[in-house]
Order: sequence, then structure tokens, then C-alpha cells
Amino acid sequence: MRRMSCIQDMALRAKRRIPAFAWGYLDGGSGEEGGLRRNRDRLEAVLLKPRFCTGVRPDTSAALFDVTYAQPFGIAPVGMGGLMWPGADLALAALAKAGGIPMVASTVSSTALEDIAQAAGGNAWFQLYASRQPRINRDLMDRAWAAGIRVMAVTVDVPLAGDRRRDVRNRFILPFRPGLRFAWDVATHPAWALATLRHGSPGFPNLARYSGDVDGQTLTAFISSQIKDDLSWDDIRDIRQTWPGKLLVKGILAPENAAQALAIGADGVWVSNHGGRQQDSAPAAIDALAAVRSVVAGDAMLVMDSGLRSGEDMARARVMGADFVFAGRPFYYGAAAGGAAGAARAVELLSADLKRILAQLGCPSWRDLDRRWLWDGRDSPEKPG
Ligand SMILES: Cc1cc2nc3c(=O)[nH]c(=O)nc-3n(C[C@H](O)[C@H](O)[C@H](O)COP(=O)(O)O)c2cc1C
Repeated sequence: MRRMSCIQDMALRAKRRIPAFAWGYLDGGSGEEGGLRRNRDRLEAVLLKPRFCTGVRPDTSAALFDVTYAQPFGIAPVGMGGLMWPGADLALAALAKAGGIPMVASTVSSTALEDIAQAAGGNAWFQLYASRQPRINRDLMDRAWAAGIRVMAVTVDVPLAGDRRRDVRNRFILPFRPGLRFAWDVATHPAWALATLRHGSPGFPNLARYSGDVDGQTLTAFISSQIKDDLSWDDIRDIRQTWPGKLLVKGILAPENAAQALAIGADGVWVSNHGGRQQDSAPAAIDALAAVRSVVAGDAMLVMDSGLRSGEDMARARVMGADFVFAGRPFYYGAAAGGAAGAARAVELLSADLKRILAQLGCPSWRDLDRRWLWDGRDSPEKPG
């Protein structure tokens, strides 16, 4: 694992190690993948100003909702994590506990939220996809609370499934008809195939109980039929009133949506374009972050994800206004590249890189990092002539 020096190296190895349909599902974006590319391009355009000889040794810890985490980043909710590597969710939950970072269990995770909560100690959060049936939403929230989870993110940016063309090309769609190509894909990735055989193919344990006793394919169809495609702020208000813990609204890009989320009593806003998986024409999350910052004030928290691949990217997000950041693919690239050890390496790389960039910037802590570190060109000397 130590030979992998960055998240991109882990992604390259992951791509070789898992079947093409699993890789396409993990790595892909929607449409022509403009949203995916834009996240990276716009992040790379954010330049930071280093200041040396400040005599500081940086502190990377960050406080969020009365908890001080060892790092200012967490593991974003990722559905079907077991597809990328069997046991990935639990390996990451254990790392969240050991490393003092939050991990968000998805409604459609392939590990039960109760099991993630147990493995993550107090560091598990829950992500809710609102169902058409209020009783399912209520039950999921009751279960999360009973499992000791105190922070929930309700995701609002999936009114319909994204246009995931890689999944269509790989025939990773319903009705799922495994053919020769699928068999070849699995057979040529023996480590993944064996691990999956040992573990069983990934399901949707959080939701299985609501669909009755059905096969995996029917369960997947049931879940798709549950997407609440007419979600409104009244629904989010109901969820706010039901959930006794801290609430974030995830998937916000428009400042006016951020204001609405706070108006119905959310404790924070999670800026995200779902890692470029929902809208080809979506703005880069880093640009939306800067716009949303202006409407999030006081105690409300501003969280961001989408495209972050290094501690340096996280510092860019901090300078543009994030209180805390998340990443999705990086941790699952790690797990796909090397199981539990690969996942641990991803956390280690991000933590080390964050420490390095704070030192490079001469910034004493994540808390202190702000727009003073943005290189906006105004410090450049006038060009002669
Ligand atoms: C494979 C995969 C599955 C995802 N599943 C969910 C999910 O179940 N719920 C959710 O709110 N977001 C989901 N997301 C979005 C992530 O929570 C996060 O917003 C995104 O991955 C951030 O971008 P990044 O992967 O570039 O870090 C998923 C992302 C990926 C890559």
C-alpha cells in the first residue's frame, strides 16, 4: 500500500482490480460527465498563498456540532459500497472510529446502518433518501437514533436517478441480466470475485424489511419506485420536525436553496453536486460553495464535497468557505485498491497531505484557514509597460 502515493494512484489500481461494471458505477458521472470534470478543473484553479517562517506546527482538528474531530474531513455516504469491495463499509467505519472522523451511512448502503454505527463508535452519521412513504422515513430515523446516531443529512439532489451512461454501457441496469460479458468481467477479476463469493453479493439491508420477502432484483426495483420525485420544502420541514438530532441538507448548489434549508431549521448546509453524478451542467461544487457561503452565517455549518482528492483540495475548500469537508470516491478507491489496508491508506494519505499543506501555507490550524490564504493575484507586481 505504501507505494501508492496519492488518491489517483489508488484509483488506477482500483480500476484494474474490480470488474468494469463496479468501476463504472464508482467512478462515473452523469451525462457527458461535465459536472465531474468541472469539479476538478475549478478546484485546480484555486491557488493558495504560502507564507513561510511563521513558527507554527499545524493543528488539523475541527469542531462540528459540539464534537471535535481529529481531521476536518469525513466519509460521505456511498450506496452499494460492498460492490466496490466486500466489507468496505465496515472497514471504513472502523477507520472512522480509530481516526476520529465521521462516516455517513447511506440509506442504500450495503451494510445495515446499525452495523456501521456500532463499528464507527460515536462517529457514525446517517444519510436519508426520503421515501414516498412517510412511515419508512420515520422508521429509518427511529432506527438511526436508536443506534446512537446524532447527525443526519437528508439528500435533496436526486429527484430522479442520474443519467449514468457508463452503467448503461456496462448493462448495470434494471432488469439486470447477467450474460457472458458479465461472467467474463467477474472471472477476470479473481480477487474481487473470491471476496464477493465469501461475503455474498451486496444488498440493501436498510430497506429490505420494507419491501417484504423479495429477491434482490425486485428489491432494487422497489427502492427505485420509492424515490420521492416530488420532494418539497414542506417534506424537509416534516423531516426536521421528526429528527431530534442535528440536520444537514445535502446536495445544495443554489444560495436560495441554502437559505430555505436554514429557514426550515436545518443546522447546516451540505454543498455538493453529488460528485458530478446527477447533472452534467451543474456548477462545480467549489464555485457553488463560494456563492452559498454568503447566506450561511451564525451557528449554521457549511459542509462541502465533490471532487476533493487531496488535503490540498480540502484546504482550497476551506479557503472558499467550508467549515468541514467530505469525500466519497477516494475512500472507496482505497478499499477497491487494497481492502481494509487500502481504505486505511486513503485516510492516511489525506491526513498527511492536509498537515503538509497547512505547514506549507504557514497556517496554524484548519480553524484559522480563511480567505487570507487565497492567492487572488492582487499581490502580483504591476507588469511593466
Ligand atoms: C458510488 C457512489 C455512491 C453514492 N451514493 C450516495 C448515496 O447513497 N447517498 C448520497 O447522499 N450520496 C451518495 N453519493 C454521493 C456522495 O455522498 C458524495 O456527495 C460524492 O461522492 C462526493 O464526490 P467525490 O466522490 O468526488 O468525493 C454517492 C457517490 C458515489 C461515488
